[in-house]
Amino acid sequence: MTVQTTLAPELLRIFERQTKLCDDLEAVADSLPNRTDRQFCLHLARQIGPLLKAAHDIEEKHLFPAIIEAHGGGAELVERLRLEHIEDECFGEEVQHELMQLGQGRPVLAPEATGYMLRGFFEGMRRHMRHELELMGQPVRPAA
Ligand SMILES: [Fe+2]
Repeated sequence: MTVQTTLAPELLRIFERQTKLCDDLEAVADSLPNRTDRQFCLHLARQIGPLLKAAHDIEEKHLFPAIIEAHGGGAELVERLRLEHIEDECFGEEVQHELMQLGQGRPVLAPEATGYMLRGFFEGMRRHMRHELELMGQPVRPAA
């Protein structure tokens, strides 16, 4: 499959922002339990919901129609990606909640559990984005 499409600038920007969020969440996971910056946790917690919402809206508009056009069976691929968006939004709410608690100095989970949750979230997001970029024939960042 050799689809090589030029991505809309909005799409490139939102992919960069999602990638940055994943990197920032990884930094928090690496900082647990003793080097955690509480202000940074609060800052990230506030970003997650709006960023995912913006990303999914932009992908609906600029990415999914292109995938449908480029691939036979594209509609099914897009349905699967939509499901992953819903899962990410639900998981994102849990992560947001835990980061808020962490930022307020009242973590609900043990540090290992928080780290596990954060890694599950950003690794899933990275996998999802890699898949989307591959479907568009774009170069992808090597797996972390
Ligand atoms: Fe997506």
